Amino acid sequence: MTDLPKTYRVKSFGCQMNVYDGERMAELLGAQGMTAAAEGADADLVVLNTCHIREKAAERAYSDIGRLRREDGSKPMIALAGCVAQAEGAEAKARSRMIDLVVGPQAYHRLPEMVAEVANGGRPVDTDMPAISKFGALPARRKVGPSAFLTVQEGCDKFCTYCVVPYTRGAEISRPWADIVAEARSLVEGGAREITLLGQNVNAWSGEDEKGCSGGLDSLIRALARIDGLERLRYTTSHPADMTDGLIAAHGEVDKLMPYLHLPVQSGSDPILKAMNRSHSAESYLRTIEKVRAARPDIAISGDFIVGFPGETDEDFTTTLAIVDSVRYASAYSFKYSARPGTPAAVMEGAVTAEVMDDRLQRLQVRLAEHSLAFNRATIGKDLAILIDRKGRLPGQMIGKSPWLQSVFVETDAGIGDMLDVTVTHALTNSLGGVLRTAKAA
Ligand code: SAH
Ligand code: SF4
Ligand code: F3S
Repeated sequence: MTDLPKTYRVKSFGCQMNVYDGERMAELLGAQGMTAAAEGADADLVVLNTCHIREKAAERAYSDIGRLRREDGSKPMIALAGCVAQAEGAEAKARSRMIDLVVGPQAYHRLPEMVAEVANGGRPVDTDMPAISKFGALPARRKVGPSAFLTVQEGCDKFCTYCVVPYTRGAEISRPWADIVAEARSLVEGGAREITLLGQNVNAWSGEDEKGCSGGLDSLIRALARIDGLERLRYTTSHPADMTDGLIAAHGEVDKLMPYLHLPVQSGSDPILKAMNRSHSAESYLRTIEKVRAARPDIAISGDFIVGFPGETDEDFTTTLAIVDSVRYASAYSFKYSARPGTPAAVMEGAVTAEVMDDRLQRLQVRLAEHSLAFNRATIGKDLAILIDRKGRLPGQMIGKSPWLQSVFVETDAGIGDMLDVTVTHALTNSLGGVLRTAKAA
């Protein structure tokens, strides 16, 4: 028997959905009377909210556990949560004796009970995947920052051959319309001015509105845009196969929907896309981008890329550079392929050597950076609305987001959550600098 923890820390390592889960776990622990440990202070309970997507991400979980041992030899209560917890289950407990409980991403509403079990001498594991029940068991949203995440869809049925998500997050499910609208309202009441709708395949969301009419993500976006006080809507991540005409049209019609679309392509080569089981070709992807740009000409496109998928030749890689040049991405994430246990690609032939992967990644990133810089430079001299979301490092400096999700540095005495008009004066690959025009009424 040990005491119940009084303080907690949640560390999230993964994607935005993982961050959202981390926030919900923190709220859940807070509702039990625990308080967040101060920055740098020791916590009684540490929740490691892990990511399994690439080997490096998964390994981080275990390297972090080692560092939690205190000088006197004691340790906090350690909960392994997130996608590594889901993938490894009870094996994780065998791998590290320091782990006290293992809870998957669909079961974390049970965290308080599990913590109590640990205090009673147990070492529980819960990696069940009940259909969506976790949301109903979570406390209401508490005070949030100006920009909030809201998970509307979970899981993935796409089974790209390299990816663990269909196994760690389970089948695609959409949260019900009314729950999402209620959560969005409470986020806005708690201070959010921008909401990003999240899902592994967020544009696969479907549901029925209050009148029983079924619709897709576009109808949900149109309804959420009617919430007073909510000024910006975004969504991520989308799959090219689920970019419906309705959703594309919404980009041209819903003012609050920001001109930004994260639409991963992964590769520009059709044979590789086929081996990845991506269900789109380079050409069909480009056609989708064209339609989106016709609906919203100033939209910023971002993407994800994998280099060094098994069998990728120099020629395949060259077509990836070609698609980068034709889309002119405003921003992008690029990764070296990482073989993940249990996925079909892990046993494919034609492994690409580490040296070749390094070289391709470097060349791709140089090209992507050129396009980001060009996109950012094109905003110099423009007046943008910036939603301030954090402090800069210099005194008096604040950082906000442009409609195109660029980080904009500005000197101002405005606070977090204020919306400002800023004239862009300079541009770097990953940020903009600007000067204040007039402070809009916040
Ligand atoms: N559901 C989203 C995001 C999935 S994970 C989508 O389909 O786009 C985020 C990104 O990680 C992917 O887009 C992909 O580029 C990358 N990724 C996934 N599995 C990977 C692996 N095994 N190796 C390297 N990168 C991977
Ligand atoms: Fe993974 Fe593909 Fe699903 Fe995205 S669509 S989560 S890359 S399986
Ligand atoms: Fe990682 Fe799980 Fe997200 S594997 S990318 S935390 S869905």
